[in-house]
Amino acid sequence: MPGIKLNGIRACVFDAYGTLFDVNSAAEAEKEVLAENWKPLADTWRTKQLQYTWLRALMRRHADFWQVTGDALDFAMAESGLSDPALRQRLMDLYLRLNAYPEVKSTLEQLKQRGMQLAILSNGAPRMLAAAAENAAITGLLDAILSVEEVRTFKPNPAVYQLAVDRLGLAPREICFLSSNSWDAYAAKAFGFQVLWCNRFGQPPERIPETPDGEIGNLRELLEWV
Ligand code: LAC
Repeated sequence: MPGIKLNGIRACVFDAYGTLFDVNSAAEAEKEVLAENWKPLADTWRTKQLQYTWLRALMRRHADFWQVTGDALDFAMAESGLSDPALRQRLMDLYLRLNAYPEVKSTLEQLKQRGMQLAILSNGAPRMLAAAAENAAITGLLDAILSVEEVRTFKPNPAVYQLAVDRLGLAPREICFLSSNSWDAYAAKAFGFQVLWCNRFGQPPERIPETPDGEIGNLRELLEWV
């Protein structure tokens, strides 16, 4: 979709998992062990991880994203008939150094050169986000790494999106929020950000309220929008 310029943007705020970091890269790194199981395991791991955030938030039983990620992995391994504590440990370690998508660093550098404030806003626990950003060598480009742990709930609670407004000292409309997770993009739009859905896998639109302002296929395309 061609870029219709978004007006008045002073900061770009990024979702982390799936948007900056490839969540499949952990299971993929264990492909030799997991064989054809690697992708189904990765898919279930991710699906359960997100379900557990929504369920815990509704149940008011918060635990941080490290705990939830481990619980989801335990479910995925059980479903695949895997019982291997050493493999579990390696997969969790890999989650701290997920591959960044190839365009991430250069895109952030160019946005920074334009004077844009940059931040991560994620479900991730602070330690997880710090490790992933460090591994991708983007820590120095970020003005803030914001974790839901400050409000001890998960996206899409509006209190989470409010963290970016408070920390950056900007109005929601001055923030361009980016997520590859469709539901996160729609919810961020409902909150009041200007939003681009980074639809990496060509998924159809969601049937929930508040359509994002635009769709891009990778983060590099963001440079045409702001
Ligand atoms: C995050 C999840 C939604 O980083 O991917 O917040």
